[in-house]
Amino acid sequence: MTEANSKRRSLSGRFDGASSETLDAINVSVGFDKRLWRQDIEGSLAHVDMLAQEGIISSRDASQIKQGLQQIQEEMKRGQFEFKASLEDIHMNVEFRLHELIGAAAGRLHTARSRNDQVVTDFRLWTRERCDLAIDAIQALILTLLDQAESGIDIVMPGLTHLQTAQPITWGHHMMAYVEMLGRDWGRFRDARQRMNECPLGAAALAGTSFPINRDHTAQSLSFDRPMANSIDAVSDRDFALEYLSAAAITSMHLSRLADEIVLWCSDPYQFIRLNDAFTTGSSIMPQKRNPDGAELVRAKTGRITGSFIALLTILKGLPLAYSKDLQEDKEQTFDGADNLELSLAVINGMLQNLTPIKENLRQAAANGFSTATDLADWLVREVNMPFREAHIVVSDVVKLADKKRLALSELPLADLRKIYGGFTEEAQGVLSPENSVKSRISYGGTAPARVREQIAIWRETLT
Ligand code: ARG
Repeated sequence: MTEANSKRRSLSGRFDGASSETLDAINVSVGFDKRLWRQDIEGSLAHVDMLAQEGIISSRDASQIKQGLQQIQEEMKRGQFEFKASLEDIHMNVEFRLHELIGAAAGRLHTARSRNDQVVTDFRLWTRERCDLAIDAIQALILTLLDQAESGIDIVMPGLTHLQTAQPITWGHHMMAYVEMLGRDWGRFRDARQRMNECPLGAAALAGTSFPINRDHTAQSLSFDRPMANSIDAVSDRDFALEYLSAAAITSMHLSRLADEIVLWCSDPYQFIRLNDAFTTGSSIMPQKRNPDGAELVRAKTGRITGSFIALLTILKGLPLAYSKDLQEDKEQTFDGADNLELSLAVINGMLQNLTPIKENLRQAAANGFSTATDLADWLVREVNMPFREAHIVVSDVVKLADKKRLALSELPLADLRKIYGGFTEEAQGVLSPENSVKSRISYGGTAPARVREQIAIWRETLT
């Protein structure tokens, strides 16, 4: 029997002729779903074990099937397995080979199972693994950010709003902002993983089966918490992959913001950081160039990862229960999203390990733009009980004068300050230095190094 005929015979008795090449072109999925081979064999091993245990097939058949599956596993590991497009998908490829290896007993593996519950079991196992990888990679990135935060705990830099100098902050505080974002991403993957950890195997085509299967057995052997409670839901939904992709899209959005800052920071007008050669690319025409291509690509990957999420969401929308072939389109989206998320996390982690903040430039930029104007207004409120709105007006005049004299606020002589408001003292002048400004912001969540140090300690504790 040819493979094509064999596939037709195993899939339905109603066909005499071969399928059209055009139909095959849209229908065949082994080119991409072969990535599920580990999970497919794992799922089949659990299924066959259960069938034998419950006396649904003989233990002789079961052990033949298991041996055959293990041999296929070896062939795949060694890259010796020949995937055939004529056999449509990974499941039929494995089954056909099993038939070649052990003969008739192979036909008993699919008892009480359908490709509908088989494929979604494979895919859940795959997605669960990628959740674990994302969780680990995010954790590694957070640790790198904590190192950056710790070593730059009191490096003063400008904090921006509208990309304009606003108030001085510290490098440590800025890094810790990303720790918080990625901490939530980490939590999202952990939540998604927990929710997806239910086993669809045993739902069969959609209605369950008349065989006395033991779904707890298969769920347990595949390390799921429990079997899914509704067989229709089990074969129909792909919300677990959507949750993975939405967490991936949000994470990659965070990564793209960090990537964008890296691009800005290492540009000539900024010169806030230096990137090591390992994470810098050159230009084919301009010899002076040191380009942050890695960060730019991470910034761009967000489009692709978010695209995967939107694509899968759109594929699922409006699908009637239960299985439709539309669901075959779930895989490439999720594969691509996962590959690119993991790559992005690794690249950003590498870049952060290979960048050094340039302290002097950051300090200088922090003093520019009258960044401590708010500190002076706060001083007036605190020390002379001036209403904040009035203080705001006084300090606006101070800023105007400093601007006119081309001086930073902290360079303005006390006499000048007093011309605007007679009550200014040396102490008032003291609050104008960026270092004092950051030290003073001790409110919970504020930029004061003492506060940031506490947060670093909390995160280190959480991650160990
Ligand atoms: N390759 C298919 C998929 O990925 C497997 C399930 C096929 N089931 C079916 N009833 N045609 O969804």
